[in-house]
Amino acid sequence: MTVPPGDPADAPLRLSATTGCPDTWPVFDRLWRDHGPVAPVELEPGVHAWLVMGYEELKTVTGTPRLYSRDGRDWRAFQDGTVPPGSPLGPMMFFRDDVVGHDGDEHRRLRRPIEDAIAAVDHRRLRRTVEYLCRGLIGAFAERGAADLVAEYAEAVPLLALGDLIGFDPRQSRELLTAMRALSGSGSGEDAHEGDRRLEALLSRLLAARREEPADDIASLLLAHPGLRTAAEALRSIVVLMSAGNHTTMSWIAQTLGLMLTDPRFAGRVRGGRLGIDDALDEVLAVAPPMINMPARYALRDTELGGRAIARGDALILGLAAVAHDVRAHAGSQFWQRGNRAHLAWSAGPHACPARDPARTIARTAVATVLHALRGVRLAIDPADLEYEPSPWTRCPARLPVTFTHADPGGTHGRRSGTRA
Ligand code: HEM
Repeated sequence: MTVPPGDPADAPLRLSATTGCPDTWPVFDRLWRDHGPVAPVELEPGVHAWLVMGYEELKTVTGTPRLYSRDGRDWRAFQDGTVPPGSPLGPMMFFRDDVVGHDGDEHRRLRRPIEDAIAAVDHRRLRRTVEYLCRGLIGAFAERGAADLVAEYAEAVPLLALGDLIGFDPRQSRELLTAMRALSGSGSGEDAHEGDRRLEALLSRLLAARREEPADDIASLLLAHPGLRTAAEALRSIVVLMSAGNHTTMSWIAQTLGLMLTDPRFAGRVRGGRLGIDDALDEVLAVAPPMINMPARYALRDTELGGRAIARGDALILGLAAVAHDVRAHAGSQFWQRGNRAHLAWSAGPHACPARDPARTIARTAVATVLHALRGVRLAIDPADLEYEPSPWTRCPARLPVTFTHADPGGTHGRRSGTRA
């Protein structure tokens, strides 16, 4: 990548410094002040990239696949071996032969079945299933008067809900949890590769069962979809759904609960009815989106972006949180505090998240259910001691230990959701 020499403001910041800090707001403010809309960052020692923080620049990068590719094989640091094959960056940045890794016609062919599967989700049934799952999780710690709302709640809800939609029973969904933890990118490179392998093995078994006997679930829908050529493509599509949906939705739930527990103004507005649950969820998407920094696009030729000279093969990271600091696009932080949905937490362009509706149903139900079920909830540690999972990409509280005075998990009447009405 090209960085003008001799300018101290251009000394690249380690990307993980934007996610591991106690407060991201001053860090992104500073990056913006020092560099403008496109900042040089370091991913690993000696591995550089551009963090795209400007609203218009992000729209350009995500909306111009002929110039900014999603295919990790176009990354110069991959081509010349600067990044070794076992790098922890691999699972998020190397080429994957699925909807995420392709552009153009091949991307459209692989995305269509995923969109069809998501369009077939019955949201009333999904809400009932998630409510049932949430009540079960709350019931498990209700007597204790204390819980970790990450490990015992936020981490489990999306996985169990997605597992149900895909076709797993609750016991099988729980088996996926360990694999997904490793895959989430917070572990070492080896952990991530091992998680990937175990996840694919579990899913292969499900697909074999559904080939024998189709059911009303995403696995069966994808197997039968005319757009997919092989069972391996159906498997890879399900892996993407699980890996793209699990950690993001967990972060969304955990960040919303975290803000409610640590920010009295935020909690007061939700409890006082001035901020609906959806507005609260949107505020989190704007100021603390699940994907703080989304990898990646790769420049297909030398070009210019936000006043920077971008070289062919450079990696560009989507600054989905940093964009909230673009004062050219809005009037500052207050802009985000009115349920505004003009954020880029779902990204933009052909690869933008196709699953915002089911993600919202899961997150909204999880937040609403725990809010109704627990009384007198308090964070059991000093908010200043909250720690975040180590990852350059996401910023999820590592744990949310709480105490509560009363828990009413309510009825346990739920049913499997499936994908169709
Ligand atoms: C039910 C839960 C979810 C599922 C099944 C899901 C699924 C997906 C899939 C399949 C993709 C790849 C699309 C493509 O490359 O064409 C994707 C991308 C993405 N999703 Fe989601 N997702 C979920 C939840 C979320 C949440 C909660 C967020 C954050 C608010 C999120 C943010 C993103 C982003 C930023 C991308 C990447 C877009 C890009 O590369 O430009 N997703 N998601």
